Amino acid sequence: TGSMNTLIENLKKLDLTLPPSVPDSYPESNTVDLCRNYITEQLSNLTGVDKSIIYPALEWCTVLEKGDLLLPLPRIRLKGNLDEMAIDLAYKFPLGGYIDRVVPQGKFLQFYFNTKFLLNYVTKDVLTRTTDFGSAPLGDGKSVIVEFSSPNIAKPFHAGHLRSTIIGGFLSNLYEKLGWKVIRMNYLGDWGKQFGVLAVGFNKYGSEAELEVNPIQHLFDVYVKINNDIKEQQEAAEAKGETLDPITSIDGEARQFFKKMEDGDEAALKLWEKFRTLSIERYIGTYARLNIKYDVYSGESQVSNDVMQNVSKILEEKKMITEDRGALLIDFKQLGQKKLGKVLVQKSDGTSLYITRDLGAATERHEQYHFDKMIYVVASQQDLHIKQFFTALDMMGNEWAKDLVHVNFGMVLGMSTRKGTVVFLDDILEAVKSKMLEIMQQNSEKFAQVEDPEKVADLVGISAVMIQDMQAKRINNYEFGWDRMLSSEGDTGPYLQYAHSRLRSIQRSANVPDEELIKADMSLENVCGSIEKLKAQNLSEEEFEKKSKLLESQLEKTKTLARVMASYPDTLRYASKNYEPSTIVTYLFKLTHNFSSTYKVLRVIGEDREVMVARLALFSAVRQILHNGMTLLGITPVERM
Ligand code: ARG
Repeated sequence: TGSMNTLIENLKKLDLTLPPSVPDSYPESNTVDLCRNYITEQLSNLTGVDKSIIYPALEWCTVLEKGDLLLPLPRIRLKGNLDEMAIDLAYKFPLGGYIDRVVPQGKFLQFYFNTKFLLNYVTKDVLTRTTDFGSAPLGDGKSVIVEFSSPNIAKPFHAGHLRSTIIGGFLSNLYEKLGWKVIRMNYLGDWGKQFGVLAVGFNKYGSEAELEVNPIQHLFDVYVKINNDIKEQQEAAEAKGETLDPITSIDGEARQFFKKMEDGDEAALKLWEKFRTLSIERYIGTYARLNIKYDVYSGESQVSNDVMQNVSKILEEKKMITEDRGALLIDFKQLGQKKLGKVLVQKSDGTSLYITRDLGAATERHEQYHFDKMIYVVASQQDLHIKQFFTALDMMGNEWAKDLVHVNFGMVLGMSTRKGTVVFLDDILEAVKSKMLEIMQQNSEKFAQVEDPEKVADLVGISAVMIQDMQAKRINNYEFGWDRMLSSEGDTGPYLQYAHSRLRSIQRSANVPDEELIKADMSLENVCGSIEKLKAQNLSEEEFEKKSKLLESQLEKTKTLARVMASYPDTLRYASKNYEPSTIVTYLFKLTHNFSSTYKVLRVIGEDREVMVARLALFSAVRQILHNGMTLLGITPVERM
């Protein structure tokens, strides 16, 4: 293929030959795979172990001190004294273009990539492939449905929805980058008795005009008012020792209205449809602020009765159903699944429930999309529900139930503003934006240089919310810290934005055309200099001492930076396996920290042109990777701030 030819060409320029490719390795898009292939080839020659055993045993290494790749010898099934073998293999391993150090560590071998090669190869790879750097055709046309956000119409958009939105948006981007066909789906809570309540409430308190202007807020207000009325009626009845009138009470009316909806009554459905359509229109705009665009707005209402009836039929056939006073339930305990308890699948009046709709929806989606994987991004509060319905699907005989993945996450504590509790996504984003604007105004000199401060405050504010959310393992709870997340010190969204705008500013002041950057001489001698060059300068002993110290630090930092840069594609792959946004966030902080300490010793402006261009090429590549990573997370990098 074309990309393979380019790879061979590029390697030739560095006097390297392409090692044979192990199946499922992607040396064209991932330098680490290239090195994996080389190590595999050499080790197979040395040990006689089959390449298909060695390759997958080469482990990813996040701690640079331990090498770039790690091989636990027990994993390649060698017999004998493994500690001795490690020493022997490290000694015999052919070093050179790809690998320049192998260290035996007990039964482990640590491989260190040749940083001269990395610096040269990766920088140019990034600068040529730009936004594509990091992507790989791993998905090979397979499709994945990512269901995320899924708020409930007329109810608050709470922290659970916020996290689902952020994490789901990221996972969708990630899978797309890795060559999957991604279907982004929002499964709205748009069905159930609450719509009866809402309809009655709208008759009493609703305003068509307000509904048009801000449907989400208005429906919520109506819902709150009518629920208060219901509560009052209940309390009044209780005080008198009576029960609510099933026909004339608000609760009764609501029940009847929802029954009409379930029976397909046109007038009832028309009102519900209007609530739904207007809410979706509004959601589209809000999600766009987070760079999210759904392929499908589905919802609990969209699950067809036919499919649900079919689900019931199969549940009966498989003897998974127990009857209890006219209602139907699955008793998992009886079915040998002790921890899953019991769950109602049909009420005595014949109406469906949350789990029934989920069973139907999954079945329908499988028929329609033939997905290879389906990811549900749902709070860990619903762990039991999700386990129940995944297990039920499996017990019903759906072989594809194994392709369902629950990506869960912990809670957010204290998500409120000075003005009170935030209930909608827009409110959260507005609150963060105005706080960010305040912070920016504190530095009036800088503030004056920002072209569109509102826009920048919005983007930086959003990045603060997102990074705070994706920073730690998703299962952890976290405290919503308004001041902490907006600070540009410490590992925050604004810090990443700041690093990006700083890199942009270096590019602006150096002002070198891209074509020249791509042709830069990326040898370590040019980027950092060399002892020989220093000697040739005839410096005083003191000067020489000082400059050679600096050189040492330049070399060390540059090499480390190159290694970090090279590990970006692997980081994506790793994140696609553990579904952890924090894998990417941690990487981006590592990248920016390494950039900033390298930049301290490697100045760009004021150097000879050739050196300046090479250093700028290096930092431009860093900027590109940072850009790619931020975009992957759903963040828009800013040019200035
Ligand atoms: N709308 C639900 C809620 O707010 C979340 C839906 C999760 N997805 C699902 N397929 N059950 O609690």
